[in-house]
Amino acid sequence: MDIIQDYLSLAIQVAREAGDYARNIQRSELKISTKTNEMDIVTQVDSRNEQTIRDTVLSKYPDHVFLGEELGSSESSDDFGFSHARVRWIIDPIDGTVNFAHGLPIWCVSVGVEVNGTMECGAIYQPNLNEIFTVRRGHGAFLNGERISVSRVADASKSLFVTGFPYNVHQNPESVIEQFSSFLYKGLLIRRLGSAALDLAYVACGRFEAFWEIGLSPWDTSAGQLMVREAGGRVTHYDGTDYNIYKRSIIATNGLHHEMISDIIEGNNIKTSGTSSESVS
Ligand code: IPD
Ligand code: CA
Ligand code: CA
Repeated sequence: MDIIQDYLSLAIQVAREAGDYARNIQRSELKISTKTNEMDIVTQVDSRNEQTIRDTVLSKYPDHVFLGEELGSSESSDDFGFSHARVRWIIDPIDGTVNFAHGLPIWCVSVGVEVNGTMECGAIYQPNLNEIFTVRRGHGAFLNGERISVSRVADASKSLFVTGFPYNVHQNPESVIEQFSSFLYKGLLIRRLGSAALDLAYVACGRFEAFWEIGLSPWDTSAGQLMVREAGGRVTHYDGTDYNIYKRSIIATNGLHHEMISDIIEGNNIKTSGTSSESVS
């Protein structure tokens, strides 16, 4: 029996079910509340989706554990980055909640499966385009069943980049505003979609040449970072170290723009050292 394939099939199933449920909710039915500040919102669909995904997985694998945006960790340890659960499902029940709440169709459900500390597979589902991105470590990344690869465009002037901002962007954490302005002064074409998981999936399939962001959480990147790698791209922290989903900064590229982006970020004196889950790297 190929157990990882079973996990992947289940990840696809739960991502599709949750995404389709959310897509069929009327905007007028949404109950919106705030989290860390007025901009950081959540709907009843986010929590419902995460609970439903957990319940579905538990009905098949009662010993699996979970880490998700709305329900947190199902493990006893507070330090979710360093406990040793065997199979952990890392869930963003809606990535792009602000878009979702405003009726903008750019959001997705992201599910990654980590086995003994290694991300093995995952799925990102964007219901409004009926696009399911899937990945399995060592077996490639796929969009609706077709193998995908990163773009081969090396010329920055012919490239499209994407970034995102943390909900406390107004406090300018890690000089994120100066950093973004430096990218603008380069004259690069940059988008801000509002869904980090889709940003990564879109790098993986070649729609974007690169993505970077500070302040992300494991559920934002668990599946997408593996997709970029399996599609032939490169994923690191701002300081160039290997990417770890439990740390906060990410540069994900087709491999051809990585140094340029890292140099621009470093040029803004962004702090890049440290090893804890709170560190910038
Ligand atoms: C957010 C989105 C957004 C990113 C934020 C994330 P959420 O996730 O991925 O693109 O810029 O940093 O928190 O709150 O919609 O799940
Ligand atoms: Ca998210
Ligand atoms: Ca979310």
